[in-house]
Amino acid sequence: MNKIEQVADYRDEDGFSALFYKTQDNSMTVSIVSEKMQTEMMHSQSGSFSETNYVYLPVVDFVIKNRIEPVFLSIGLGVGYIEIMLFAYLLNKNISDDYLSQLFIFSFEKEEKLIQFFTAFLLDQPLPVSFQACYSSILQLNSEYFSVDKMELKLFIKDFILKNKFVIYNKFTNETQLTKPANGIFFDAFSANSSPDLWNELYIDNILSPKNCSSSSSFATYASKNMLKRKLKENNFNLLKKKGFAGKRECIFAYRIKNELI
Ligand SMILES: C[S@@+](CC[C@H](N)C(=O)[O-])C[C@H]1O[C@@H](n2cnc3c(N)ncnc32)[C@H](O)[C@@H]1O
Repeated sequence: MNKIEQVADYRDEDGFSALFYKTQDNSMTVSIVSEKMQTEMMHSQSGSFSETNYVYLPVVDFVIKNRIEPVFLSIGLGVGYIEIMLFAYLLNKNISDDYLSQLFIFSFEKEEKLIQFFTAFLLDQPLPVSFQACYSSILQLNSEYFSVDKMELKLFIKDFILKNKFVIYNKFTNETQLTKPANGIFFDAFSANSSPDLWNELYIDNILSPKNCSSSSSFATYASKNMLKRKLKENNFNLLKKKGFAGKRECIFAYRIKNELI
């Protein structure tokens, strides 16, 4: 039973549809219906924006504060909360051009329409009004939170798309190999209940393999699963005990630094 209000919907002739809800911090979340299956909501009903910052901002902080090569992997673009937050953070910190030139963001999203609409928004191309409103509100929230100009933020992101340094691919699988290992990993896939394939050992092994995950790196996810915690420990990650967002028992933030045990 949803405690939050539905504010818009979208449906197209390809059988893709989306329901938009306002969460308790006034930010929007989405549930997708594709191939006749309705997905779970993408975020906590207590707040999409707040949850994203609570769970995933430490990954960005870790990479930038340790001056590690800024290469990020995001599994589950959804409506782009993590990606927009990451760019707003970078813009706010006035990062040097030299360091910024090393930035790469590899995002993955299995729903083609979500890639298409998100890219259209950033490149100022036509897109459905409901998605336009959703992305605009995420841009607005981040611009206020990180004190950066909304239009400047949008242009900043667009620039990285045009330079092919922010690339959005389709499904992340057991075989996916990045062209560069990531130093910051956002694992924001759906839950093990609805998407067991995303939480099997081979999948996690592939995310944490040296070709995808650098020796100095941080990793976060909103969920907590013993298998994942064990895999992170086996791969020499330090796990921080962290309460989950909005009353959830636990979420995961983990990091490792090459040649250093903290
Ligand atoms: C919890 S939502 C992500 C929310 C998103 N991070 C945001 O900020 O809006 C999970 C997303 O993962 C996508 N997904 C599921 N399986 C995937 C896969 N194998 N590869 C890439 N994306 C996947 C879903 O389509 C959905 O959009």
